[in-house]
Amino acid sequence: MRVLVTGGAGFIGSHVVDALQAHGHEPVVYDVRENPAADVRDPVAVARALAGVDAVCHQAAMVGLGDGVADAAEYVSRNDLGTAVLLAAMAEAGVRRLVLAGSMVVYGEGRYECPRHGVVRPGPRDVADLDAGRFEPACPVCGTELSPGLVGEDAPADPRNVYATTKLAQEHLAAAWARVTDGQAVSLRYHNVYGPRMPRDTPYAGVASFFRSALARGEAPRVFEDGRQRRDFVHVRDVAAANVTALEAGTRGGALTAYNTGSGEPHTVGEMARALAAAHGGPEPLVTGEYRLGDVRHITADSARLRAELGWKPQVGFEEGMAEFARAGIQGA
Ligand SMILES: NC(=O)c1ccc[n+]([C@@H]2O[C@H](COP(=O)([O-])OP(=O)(O)OC[C@H]3O[C@@H](n4cnc5c(N)ncnc54)[C@H](O)[C@@H]3O)[C@@H](O)[C@H]2O)c1
Ligand SMILES: [Zn+2]
Repeated sequence: MRVLVTGGAGFIGSHVVDALQAHGHEPVVYDVRENPAADVRDPVAVARALAGVDAVCHQAAMVGLGDGVADAAEYVSRNDLGTAVLLAAMAEAGVRRLVLAGSMVVYGEGRYECPRHGVVRPGPRDVADLDAGRFEPACPVCGTELSPGLVGEDAPADPRNVYATTKLAQEHLAAAWARVTDGQAVSLRYHNVYGPRMPRDTPYAGVASFFRSALARGEAPRVFEDGRQRRDFVHVRDVAAANVTALEAGTRGGALTAYNTGSGEPHTVGEMARALAAAHGGPEPLVTGEYRLGDVRHITADSARLRAELGWKPQVGFEEGMAEFARAGIQGA
């Protein structure tokens, strides 16, 4: 298959390119980082890039939490306008297969259970609670501390920041494209992706990258809140393999199918910091109690559907993946 990989010069996209090549496909990189003319928002350039293409793997996006709302227009432009231009060009070119880089952020706080009220959906946490070190969301009905559960693909969407909103809109745009063109659209809702070539600590980078950079400077990784917030850290090679699997699999035409893409093994951010620090040889992480507005407490998805329906299975374990990541930091890779 000849596959246009938007964002193919990025962290995840570059691994998708490698994985496609390893599977005998022909990836075509489309990324402004590599070529300033290769912007997904440019209809003429996109149309040209789609010539002879069998499928599109859409990774290009502006990522991270950003600075609140000042950069909202840039997120919407790159992520949603960019996706709309791409989809219109695909419809015109007759390209019927799309795999989209989705995200767990579309779920917001995810799934929680109250011992008395069952499954509930807590709203954003109060600043007063966060300032007082009360990090666990409380039951919106009775205020009892909640226990986090695994979020399935059918959970209601609840984007809590600009980036999350644009990632959700991408899916809706792709679903509309699929309906109109009878196209096959898959959204792989990635968990926290980490591994080689992860961007360095910019305001847009992931937490594993911040910790690794701190360790490389000889400083303790600074763990926000109480360190017990749960995430699913999935290795970038496993995410790349999921993309190849989804590109190769025929999915239902005329619809978007969403798959949570995680390791299936939730860990706390504190555990991740300790694993990296141990592999690096110290210093030990520091739990600071700081917080970022817009961060959610726990996000752990159930990735069973991707395993059951497409036969994907993550290969890189947590300890092994984190150790490799920490060592790559030392080498400056
Ligand atoms: N890293 C994660 O943990 C994570 C989690 C969930 C979802 N995602 C999604 O995965 C995808 C890839 O993210 P990443 O972590 O590799 O980020 P990245 O920043 O390394 O890669 C994104 C790439 O997209 C390119 N790009 C941005 N705007 C573009 C435009 N207008 N036209 C063409 N190219 C453009 C950038 O140059 C960059 O190379 C994104 O869609 C992101 O939302 C990432
Ligand atoms: Zn309750």
